[in-house]
Amino acid sequence: MATYASKNALIIFTILLISFLATVESQQFSRKLSQRSFGLRKEKLSHFRFYFHDIVAGPNATAIRIVEATRTNRTAATGFGDITMIDNPLTMGPERTSKLVGRAQGMYTSASLNEMGLLMAMNYVFVEGKYNGSSLSILGRNPVMSTVREMPIVGGSGLFRFARGYAEARTHTFNMNNGDAVVEFNLYVLHY
Ligand SMILES: *[C@@H]1O[C@H](CO)[C@@H](O)[C@H](O)[C@H]1NC(C)=O
Ligand SMILES: *[C@@H]1O[C@H](CO)[C@@H](O)[C@H](O)[C@H]1NC(C)=O
Ligand SMILES: *[C@@H]1O[C@H](CO)[C@@H](O)[C@H](O)[C@H]1NC(C)=O
Repeated sequence: MATYASKNALIIFTILLISFLATVESQQFSRKLSQRSFGLRKEKLSHFRFYFHDIVAGPNATAIRIVEATRTNRTAATGFGDITMIDNPLTMGPERTSKLVGRAQGMYTSASLNEMGLLMAMNYVFVEGKYNGSSLSILGRNPVMSTVREMPIVGGSGLFRFARGYAEARTHTFNMNNGDAVVEFNLYVLHY
C-alpha cells in the first residue's frame, strides 16, 4: 500500500512539475540565440563617400519646409522650430547629374536657439550595387556652420542590420541666392 501511495505521489509530483515548467516556458517572451546561428560572424568596417543634394529651390525641390515656427526676437536668426522634410538625392560625385547611389529620406529641424544647429533624423536608402534596398539610420546634431559635422549612425536594415558608426558632413557648395546646398558625406560603418 505504502509503495503504491508513494509511486502515485511521485507521478503526481512529476506531472505538476512538468506542467509548471511548461507554464514558465510559455510565459517567456525572450530567448537567447547564438550569433553564429543568426549569420553574425565577423563585423567589418566600411567607408562610404557620396554627395547629398539639399534642393530647396525651384520646381524640383527635394527639401520642403513643412513647419514654420512662430518667430520671437530670440529665434528670428536661427529659425528655431522650423522643420524641413527631405527626400534628397545622394550621388557619387558633387554634380547633380552624377550617378545616383541613394536617397536621404527624413527631416531636419532647427534645434538650437543661439546658432544654426539642426537635429537630423534621416534614413539613407541605397539604390546601387549590393547595398540596393538596404538603409542606414542617422540621428544627430548638425551645426551647419562648422567645417565638419559628425552625426551618429544608429542602426540599419537589410545588409546593415546591427550597423553602427558615424557620418561626417562637409559643405561642398552653398548657393547664397536660393539656399541649395551640396554636402559631402563620409560614413564609417561597422556592420556584418
Ligand atoms: C526639373 O525636372 C524636370 C524633369 O526631370 C526637368 O526636365 C527640368 O529641367 C528640371 N528643372 C530644373 C529647374 O531643374
Ligand atoms: C523685439 O525687438 C524689437 C526691436 O529690438 C523690439 O522693439 C520689440 O519690443 C522686441 N519684441 C519682443 C517681444 O521682445
Ligand atoms: C535596386 O532594387 C530595385 C528593387 O528591387 C530594382 O528595381 C532596381 O533595378 C535595383 N537597382 C539596381 C541598380 O540594381
